[in-house]
Amino acid sequence: MGSTEDLDYPQIIVQYSNGFLISKVMFTACELGVFDLLQESGKPLPSDAIAAGLSASTMGMKRLLDACVGLKLLAVEMTQEGALYRNTEISNIYLTKSSPKSQYHIMMYYSNTVYLCWQYLADAVRSDEEMLRFMAGQNSVWSICGRDVLAAFDLSPFMQIYDLGGGGGALAQECVSLYPNSTVTIYDLPKVVQMAKEQFVSPEEHQITFHEGDFFNDSIPEAELYILSKILHDWDDDKCKQLLAKVYKACKPGGGVLLVESLLNEDKSGPVETQLYSINMLVQTEGKERTAAEYSKLLEAAGFGVIQVKRTGKLYDAVLGRKYDFKIHILAMFLRSNLSHVLTEDKRVFPLMDVTKLFANDAKLGGGVLLVESLLNEDKSGPVETQLYSMNMLVQTEGKERTAAEYSKLLEAAGFGVIQVKRTGKLYDAVLGRK
Ligand SMILES: C[S@@+](CC[C@H](N)C(=O)[O-])C[C@H]1O[C@@H](n2cnc3c(N)ncnc32)[C@H](O)[C@@H]1O
Repeated sequence: MGSTEDLDYPQIIVQYSNGFLISKVMFTACELGVFDLLQESGKPLPSDAIAAGLSASTMGMKRLLDACVGLKLLAVEMTQEGALYRNTEISNIYLTKSSPKSQYHIMMYYSNTVYLCWQYLADAVRSDEEMLRFMAGQNSVWSICGRDVLAAFDLSPFMQIYDLGGGGGALAQECVSLYPNSTVTIYDLPKVVQMAKEQFVSPEEHQITFHEGDFFNDSIPEAELYILSKILHDWDDDKCKQLLAKVYKACKPGGGVLLVESLLNEDKSGPVETQLYSINMLVQTEGKERTAAEYSKLLEAAGFGVIQVKRTGKLYDAVLGRKYDFKIHILAMFLRSNLSHVLTEDKRVFPLMDVTKLFANDAKLGGGVLLVESLLNEDKSGPVETQLYSMNMLVQTEGKERTAAEYSKLLEAAGFGVIQVKRTGKLYDAVLGRK
């Protein structure tokens, strides 16, 4: 009998569920000749060279190699040229074809015979029974991880929620139970919605409604929060951007989007479950598992800001992006006249010295200020144009050009936070501070 902790989060069940993925990674690396190539080369190799040597895709090979490192079948060394991979001792002995103790042939038998079902998985046409099994399978994970991803952020301010690609509705059910004032609409393809209504969500669950639609081709109704749980990992970056841009457009100002995904470490060194899922995505979809920074970038590209990431320590994590609910005040500096003053978007002019004070009072909670300035390098060594402007300031005003750190300090002193700096490569740069 396991401890209470085991029952709350059945680590062992999760491990066993992933067992077949582990085997397939090992078999595939054997089949492609990864261990043979590394043994023959006599020195560690970068993933590109391994991919080229084995006529494989660089992206697929990198993920396979990283998963093998996670499984201790390969070792990786970070050098100035990048990551270099080599066999571990056990792989040299058992996984190379030429070793007297090689297990290569039995593995090929396992891989090509025992895994026939797995090979057909990508092409499986879901009959009703298969679809039901798929939806029940997707649902089951939320009984162990649902509460963690939904409680990662306080979602109580969002009353009107759409669960895009909400499937069998288990996460929607967790959501209304955790946030009793919310209503959740499950948006999914018509056949999936029909099945969810018939099999998983009873009509008595009044806080849950349904919307039949295709999120790429049909409209997405307005809501305060959109949940995209295990959706983006199915798609390539272009499709993700397309979907998120649509969600951003539909989202009420002040609303947001909650991504529920299994996050890779930033250096992609793990967690091993997520590396394995990423291999699974390669087999079954056009998607992949991503890091928090990669998801943040996708959200930012769609217009979302104030992005927060919470790792739950379980299989799935949460990333929240918000849609600004205010008009950003744009400050424009003029080179020749008004040097000591700024002009706001609504044509008000203020002395530079009052700017941060002004916006600290003006900006709504959740609001911010965008400084548009020509930024000096941190050591003030350039750019030469900005140095010249600074001389100009000396002649004409009481001001000066500043570094990004100096502007950040001014913003911080006024109470702004989450300060982001973007150099444009042109004359003017942008610094965003949030209230
Ligand atoms: C991996 S499942 C995730 C299900 C659910 N969100 C969860 O976390 O358990 C992906 C879901 O997206 C839905 N889906 C895929 N393409 C879709 C589309 N174009 N429009 C709406 N839903 C879609 C699928 O039917 C499926 O329910």
